[in-house]
Amino acid sequence: MSLPNLSQAALKNKKIILRADLNVPMKDGEILDDSRIMSLLPTIDYLCMEGASIILISHFGRPQGKTVPEMSLKQLLPALEKCWKKPIFFAEDCIGSQAEKVTQNLKSGEIALLENLRFHPEEEENDLHFAQALAKLGDIYVNDGFAVSHRAHASVHAITQYLPSFPGLLMSKEINALSQALQAPQRPLAAIVAGSKISTKLDLLKNLLNKVDVLMLSGGIANTFLKARNIEIGASLYEPSMLETTQEIEKLAGEKQVEIVLPIDATGPLNAEDFITINLAHAPKEFKILDIGPETVSLFSSKLTQVRTLVWNGPLGVFEMPPFDQGTTAIAQKVAELSRHQKLFSIAGGGETLAALANAKSSHDFSYLSTAGGAFLEWLEGKDLPGIMALIKSDPQAG
Ligand code: 3PG
Repeated sequence: MSLPNLSQAALKNKKIILRADLNVPMKDGEILDDSRIMSLLPTIDYLCMEGASIILISHFGRPQGKTVPEMSLKQLLPALEKCWKKPIFFAEDCIGSQAEKVTQNLKSGEIALLENLRFHPEEEENDLHFAQALAKLGDIYVNDGFAVSHRAHASVHAITQYLPSFPGLLMSKEINALSQALQAPQRPLAAIVAGSKISTKLDLLKNLLNKVDVLMLSGGIANTFLKARNIEIGASLYEPSMLETTQEIEKLAGEKQVEIVLPIDATGPLNAEDFITINLAHAPKEFKILDIGPETVSLFSSKLTQVRTLVWNGPLGVFEMPPFDQGTTAIAQKVAELSRHQKLFSIAGGGETLAALANAKSSHDFSYLSTAGGAFLEWLEGKDLPGIMALIKSDPQAG
């Protein structure tokens, strides 16, 4: 896979259209997690240092092709200016006279943010005219929005037809880290996959079976496997329609010599105040698994000490409801410790997963945390991401 290299672009006095993913989680006007903003800083600094000006474009939320004031990117300006320590101009529209007026006199080192791309239905339709109208504003296109690269949208895909196109530094970092984990990993390679439903992670599980040596499961996904193995899970969540599928996955895992590791004990509520830990062989009928138990923590931890690379998606329990965050926290801390001592290359992604790792105060020790949610999952599913494919195709060196 050959991607064009930003260091080969002549950037001085050029206007760069920088596609970012500024779709940050917000509540009551507050940004809950600014990592997507902070992780753009190296590209912003690099472009400014090279003497370029920046026309920043992004979506925010899902306004469905209409102007929705609550989804205006304008509300992010103070946070962007604070994180990047630079004043930023704003255009009330991302194409047309508004955008042209704000961007035409941009000087080297200056930044203009354009209004939410998804206020135009043409963005999600990958419309060529819309892409052309965006492209017209600048000289070079840089895509630093790995988190949106699974969407074949005009500002991610079609625009590469009209401008010399490059991945940004964050995009390259994401691709390198994910490739290091899945394409050319140090073995043994393990994955932790958790979540409520197998059906939403089926493609991912099947693809991982072709890559990993060890697959550790938790949540409703593991419950369905346990149920199919005739292990009592009481009244815990599972997917009856997926019981047969788990048997196919187990068979495939056997053929490929992938070890599937399931929880052996669990914690769940006893009443409103208390919780119990039980061995899964003796789960009472009314018991609900909400987290892995200490025996499972030991089991997963010992597997982790035997592997060299780990990909993690999904909290192991209902971490938002303490004490059912304890299992996730213990495993996150184990991964953090092994990574800190360079014994493990660890990578995690997905909004919930990152929130759980932050809750465990382990985030900074992971080898890499992806800024992506859906794009991270699609990468794990082995899919070609349209935003990356478009950059590869646009590479003049690719021949
Ligand atoms: C994300 O937050 O995962 C990306 O910004 C993509 O958003 P979308 O799912 O609304 O396309």
